[in-house]
Amino acid sequence: MDISVTLEQVEQKYRRYYNSINDALEQCFTKDSPASLYEPVRYILSGKGKRIRPVLTLLACEAVSGSSDNAMDTALAIEILHNFTLVHDDIMDHADLRHGRPTIHKQWDTTAAILSGDVMIAYAYECALHTRTDRHNELVHILNDANITICEGQAIDMNLEQSKHATIADYLDMIAKKTGRLISASLEAGGIVGNADHEQIGKLVLFGNKIGQAFQVQDDYLDIMAEEGKSGKVPGGDVIKGKKTYLLLRSLELSTGKEKELLQSIMDKNGISPDRVPEIKEIYERCGVLDEARQLINNNTEEALRAVDSLPYQEGREYLKGIALKLMKRDF
Ligand code: IPE
Ligand code: IPE
Ligand code: MG
Ligand code: MG
Ligand code: MG
Repeated sequence: MDISVTLEQVEQKYRRYYNSINDALEQCFTKDSPASLYEPVRYILSGKGKRIRPVLTLLACEAVSGSSDNAMDTALAIEILHNFTLVHDDIMDHADLRHGRPTIHKQWDTTAAILSGDVMIAYAYECALHTRTDRHNELVHILNDANITICEGQAIDMNLEQSKHATIADYLDMIAKKTGRLISASLEAGGIVGNADHEQIGKLVLFGNKIGQAFQVQDDYLDIMAEEGKSGKVPGGDVIKGKKTYLLLRSLELSTGKEKELLQSIMDKNGISPDRVPEIKEIYERCGVLDEARQLINNNTEEALRAVDSLPYQEGREYLKGIALKLMKRDF
């Protein structure tokens, strides 16, 4: 799939937006007291997040209006909301590491993690309301819809963790909700700030749904396959916890004999001991699931690129496509 900007140009623009998002995020939380509330917030926001969603917000705005000047507050709202979901997700997943550092509930405690997550939601809405637009109602509605949908997705994720019979269809439904919706909301919100019409919003949302699915499959892939230390999370955390990932569910269908039994035991016992992660990795490497995951990511990305092909402003549109290609190849 061709785009009219080079991947080098995409990387440069991403870096520029990444830096301005980080600078702006620093200005969002200037209150010091109570430290037990605001220190964890600053801690999670100063971590090595990729800032993918706010970059998508800025580019979506640019693709429909030719400029991203008014979209930064909305981009921040999305990124703060996303970080709230990470903090609470780490409690739910009993995860010890995030961005290569202890998670908030490890560094402080669960109370600090719950409360700092809660306060971030409120700040996210404040940021959205600071946006220069006359479409605040729509922005708030998008944030609410994303928030509700993430909760549904996370509830399904938790239910599936206990399930011995989860299917790929269950998995796809779960990831559309826990991951896809916030990514599509990032684009939708950027479109609203750029005064997009109904049809343009539809295209941005479709793009978001497609890359959202690809993004979570890639996240599952990197959970176990990322190079040492690169994911910033506990390697193999998903198999240890018995999470129903694409790799686990599909390799269960592809494997036979002893290997299938071992994978089934992860389903039945809701996980496996950390020292057995390398065995599971080998099964994944042997049974063909990694190629299938790659294929699924590539197909979704191509569909995403087609979805936004007719957005009016070339620069934003082509960089949007460039980011989708960059994500397809990400290794962290
Ligand atoms: C992690 O999202 C949560 C998922 C939806 C998979 P990211 O991988 O975008 O997290 P950061 O912000 O870059 O850390
Ligand atoms: C992420 O799913 C979903 C949300 C944060 C809402 P994961 O649980 O796979 O995300 P990571 O891998 O911990 O970032
Ligand atoms: Mg998690
Ligand atoms: Mg999770
Ligand atoms: Mg994950």
